[in-house]
Amino acid sequence: MASAPGDDEEGPTGHGARHVALIMDGNGRWAKSRGLPRTLGHRAGVTALKRTVEAAPRLGVRWLTVFGFSTENWRRPASEVSELMGLLKSYVKSDLARLHREGVRVRILGRRTELPDDIMDVIAEAERLTQNNDRFFLQVAFNYGGQSDIADAARRLAKEVSQGLIDPDQITEAMFAARLSTSGAPYPDLIVRTSGEKRISNFLLWEAAYAELVFQDVLWPDYGEAPLRAALEEFQRRQRRFGGVGVDDVLAAG
Ligand code: FPP
Repeated sequence: MASAPGDDEEGPTGHGARHVALIMDGNGRWAKSRGLPRTLGHRAGVTALKRTVEAAPRLGVRWLTVFGFSTENWRRPASEVSELMGLLKSYVKSDLARLHREGVRVRILGRRTELPDDIMDVIAEAERLTQNNDRFFLQVAFNYGGQSDIADAARRLAKEVSQGLIDPDQITEAMFAARLSTSGAPYPDLIVRTSGEKRISNFLLWEAAYAELVFQDVLWPDYGEAPLRAALEEFQRRQRRFGGVGVDDVLAAG
């Protein structure tokens, strides 16, 4: 079985979800149902994100990864793209000091070279300020795509091979994982998508190998402690086998 960094803390078979990843979907529909512009749906989405980040540690979650902007989201109207960029910036600016005080380490996943300079500066500052924190880990996937992250890791490995630093026959899953933008983080135990859509949409493709998937009907701007608790309860009812057999089957086999 491919092991994930950090598996030792609670163990991959531990009962609670230590790392939850969220596909925050439904901002547009939330706004439309109220006769509001989509941008207001995204703003309400930030408020829901704040509620969820606050609730997560109370519910025993230690790692939270959220999908803020995908490599495909550039196809949206320029005004919406710029709204989403602005929201990341204002979220970090308004919450960074508090997140830091609370011991949260912030990391942004994805291709940052394609982001505007002011966004790159804000990201760099957030990561620098919080780099030694370890009470809670918040990863925001921004200009992130699972396939591009895998391609980037392959490119990094290929360069090291061409420089004679790595023997291609020695490449392992762990070496590959170490070159993803999620390197060092445990793999998600639970991936939640809101809004009723049942797709993974290019999120954490490598890391999702053994994640439990939960799809909730709630639109993202309505998210917070209660829906997160419900998702975690659903997770606890699942039996994770990681390609092996369940505990009951082992006992039954004597
Ligand atoms: C999907 O809703 C959501 C997004 C594309 C972006 C998620 C962004 C936020 C929650 C706010 C900003 C977050 C950060 C980290 C700054 P949708 O627009 O696809 O909704 P729809 O499917 O109902 O149209």
